[in-house]
Parts: sequence; structure tokens; C-alpha cells
Amino acid sequence: MSEQPRFGIVIMAAGKGTRLKSARPKVLHEIGGKPLLIHVLDAALAVVPAHEITVVIGHQAETVRAAVTSCARFADVQFVLQTELRGTGDALKSVKQAFASRTPPSHLLVLSGDVPLIQPGTIAAIRDFHLAQNASMTILTALPDDPTGYGRVLRPAPDAVEAIAIVEQKSLTGDQTSVREINSGIYAFRTASLFTHLDQLGTENAHGEYYLTDVARLMVQDGERVVALAANDVDEVLGANTIAEMMHLDAALRLRVTKKLMAAGVTIFRPDTCIIDADVEVGPDTVLEPFTQLLGATRIGSFCRIRSYSVLQDSILGDHVLVRNGCILDTATVADEAILGPYAHLRPESQIGPRAHVGNFVETKKAKLGAGSKANHLTYLGDALIGEGVNIGAGVITCNYDGVHKHKTIIGDGVFVGSDSTLVAPIEIAQGSYIAAGSTITEDVPSDALALGRARQVTKEGWAEKNRKKLTEQKCS
Ligand code: UD1
Ligand code: CA
Repeated sequence: MSEQPRFGIVIMAAGKGTRLKSARPKVLHEIGGKPLLIHVLDAALAVVPAHEITVVIGHQAETVRAAVTSCARFADVQFVLQTELRGTGDALKSVKQAFASRTPPSHLLVLSGDVPLIQPGTIAAIRDFHLAQNASMTILTALPDDPTGYGRVLRPAPDAVEAIAIVEQKSLTGDQTSVREINSGIYAFRTASLFTHLDQLGTENAHGEYYLTDVARLMVQDGERVVALAANDVDEVLGANTIAEMMHLDAALRLRVTKKLMAAGVTIFRPDTCIIDADVEVGPDTVLEPFTQLLGATRIGSFCRIRSYSVLQDSILGDHVLVRNGCILDTATVADEAILGPYAHLRPESQIGPRAHVGNFVETKKAKLGAGSKANHLTYLGDALIGEGVNIGAGVITCNYDGVHKHKTIIGDGVFVGSDSTLVAPIEIAQGSYIAAGSTITEDVPSDALALGRARQVTKEGWAEKNRKKLTEQKCS
């Protein structure tokens, strides 16, 4: 009995991306809040374990490698360095060389780092089709409205399962220009057959490169079986060679994300106006208003409402949270039933407790606000540990910075901080105490005390009337 087939995945990511006109490697450009290559890797990881994935790097190799290894889930991914960038065929020649010292998997699935919307189900489908067809090469194809720029797949007859060649855009002649079926740049190969035919590739073509696509013709010439499988969803296999193409894929991806969330019970008004990154999670019965942005690793619970123009980056919200219009959250945590905004700014390491309120033009940074505490208007809370049931009056400021160091403000449970007070850190306001409005507090306040830190009021009876008279007389004389 023959051995079980073993599949490895190769992702080609060494190219320069000349058509992007960008200093950044193409595969690190982002759609849906994630680099193209990370999308492809995530799809690959759903099909094979990380150690069976090989990424071909070349252009800005170390930058690309670092972007991958910075994600813990890709720690076991292998890299192969393509030293001269001589085309997709050359990328696979580098892989062949790397496998000289270890046994390669019996089959290789080859993905392109710039075809980011590919789904695990489709990769599995091409794998299964390839095995069922007992093919040496299986090409994933699609029929987009406009095939310009892609390699075209030629079949012996329109309904044949076999393919006879892939012809690049620049090499199309005669009738071939009317072929609409494109090569997605995604393939399955019998490894031994691929490695044999790589040696036969030449560079006599418009780009002077080794085309991996030429392997199809070479295999057919040798009597080997090459088949093509058309993808159901055209968007899934579209490539991104220009910024405009990338933005098209970004829109397609975000539409996919909003559809998935809506199917899971999230209400999204005007979903086309919302920018929701690929990995964002939202619980059922939450409502997203138009023009909201949910970015990075943001996770939102159930029964929340995110009002228009709020931007949430890498933030975690509990259930029943109301985010009013125009809030900005960056790496913040917000517990159940809290109310934010409008126009609140929660900077990194802000922790807002259950039922707490953070109102208009309030900025927090490294600040923990306990259960039910309120800072409703015009306040800065930085490096602050605030207990439960605290009332922070309008315009209160924690003065956390002395020009060199940051200092901490600690406020106990049930404290009342009067409006327009400045708390000069390091300082501790113990529980149950009162700070009189307009105070500048520089010393610790014991529990249940009243602290005043402002000039005593002086009232001069009748002064204003006398002053008015004096001024009028001066004017007449
Ligand atoms: C390729 C296919 C084309 C197909 C299209 C689908 C070839 C010759 N053509 O064209 O038939 O329709 O993809 O999107 O393969 N890369 C390397 N090393 C290199 C060159 C490229 O790793 O030396 C990588 C790139 O980083 C990229 C992928 O291979 O991720 C595809 O390269 P690209 O130059 O974009 O190929 P296309 O011209 O799009
Ligand atoms: Ca491409």
C-alpha cells in the first residue's frame, strides 16, 4: 500500500511588488487591518500545521520574516531565502534546494503572498480535487469580469477538466486573448514531478524570468496530468498588484466581515460605511451605527451600541456598553454597562469599570476607574487608580508629569472631587473625602476629610456700583 499523502504549503512572498511604487514590501501592505501575507498564512494554518508551511522571502527578507515571526502562532513556520528574484519558478527552485537536506512532503500546495482572500475551505478543496484527479499539477482558476493582467488557463475543450498550458498576459496571441479563465497563482503539485520540471524552465519570455506557470506545459508535454479547478468566489482568488487592486480587496474583505457579523446577530446600519478589521469580534444584539471603525484585536460584547464616528483600536468591551458619538479608544478595557462619550478619548491601559461613565472631552491614560465612578466632563485622568463610586467633577486634572517623571494619583472609594481641581501627583486622596471645587491639592488627604486648596474668598459690598460711578465720571469730564 502506498504511503498517506502528506501536504506542505509554500507561500511565495519574495517579489519586489514593483507595480505598487511603494518602499514597503508588497506582502506587508495591509487590507482589513492585516498584512496580505498574514491573511494567506492564517488560511494556510487552518489546513496544515505551522511547521509544514514554507514562506519564500527575498525582497526585504528580514522585514518580512520579522513580520511573520512576531506572531506567536507562526513560530514554527519555515523560511526559504530566494537570493536573486528571477520569478515565481525561481522561487520554487529555492524551495527545492532547501528540501535537498530533508524529505519534502509528497505534495505541495503553492499560494501567492499577494492573493490574500483565499479561504481554508478552498485550499482544502484544491487539495482534495488534486488527489481525486491523481494529477501532477492542479491549477485554481476563476472567471473574473476583467481578466486583464492575469495568466490565462488553456483547456483542450471548454468543458475539459484538464489544462494544457498557462499563458501570461504579455504572451497571449490570437484567440488566446479572448480566454477569460485566469490562473489564480494557487496550485497543488506532486512534489517529485514539480521538482523534476523546475529544472526544465527557461527565461525566454517578456520578463526574462522563470515562470512557475510554464511547468504546466512542460508536464503536459511529458504526458503528465494537469487539471484546473474553478473557484466559486472570484474575489477569493484576486491578486493585489496595485494600490487600487488592494483597496478593492480591502472592500471585499470588509464586506465579508460585516456579513459574517450580521449573520451572527449584530445589527450594522449602512455596513458599507463601517471599517471593521478581519479579526474583530462582536457579540449578538450589539448595534453598530454608520461610520464606526473597529480595528485590530477589538472585541465587543453583546447588547452594546457603538454610535457613529467612534474609532476602537485593540479594545475590549463587555456587555451593554454604550459608546456615544465620536469616541476614540486605543487598547482600552471597558466593563459591562459603562457609558462613554460623546468625544471621550481612552488611551492605552485605560480600564473603565462596570457602570462607570466617561463623558465629553474626557481623556484617560493608564487610568483605572472603579465600578460606578463618573468623570463626565472635560477631564484628564493619567496614571490614576480610582476606586468605586467616585465623582470626578468637570475640568479635574491629574497632574501626572513633572517634566521628567510620571507620577501616580490614587483616589479611594466614594471620593468627591470638586470641579476644576488639580491633583498634583504623586498623591493619595483616601476614601470618602471631599476636595473643594477649584482646589490645587499637593498633599495627601486622609479618609473622610475635606481638603481646600484655594485662596479664601474676599467679598467687598457695593464695590461694583462705586466702581461704575467712578468710571462714568471719568468719561464725562
Ligand atoms: C502570477 C502568475 C499569473 C497569475 C497571477 C495571479 C507567474 C509567472 N504568473 O503573476 O499567471 O495570473 O500570479 O495573481 O507566476 N514572487 C516570488 N519571487 C519572485 C517573483 C514573485 O516569491 O521572484 C512572489 C511574489 O511576492 C508574489 C507571487 O510570487 O507574492 C506572484 O508574483 P507576481 O510577480 O505578483 O506575479 P503576477 O505577475 O501577478
Ligand atoms: Ca501578483
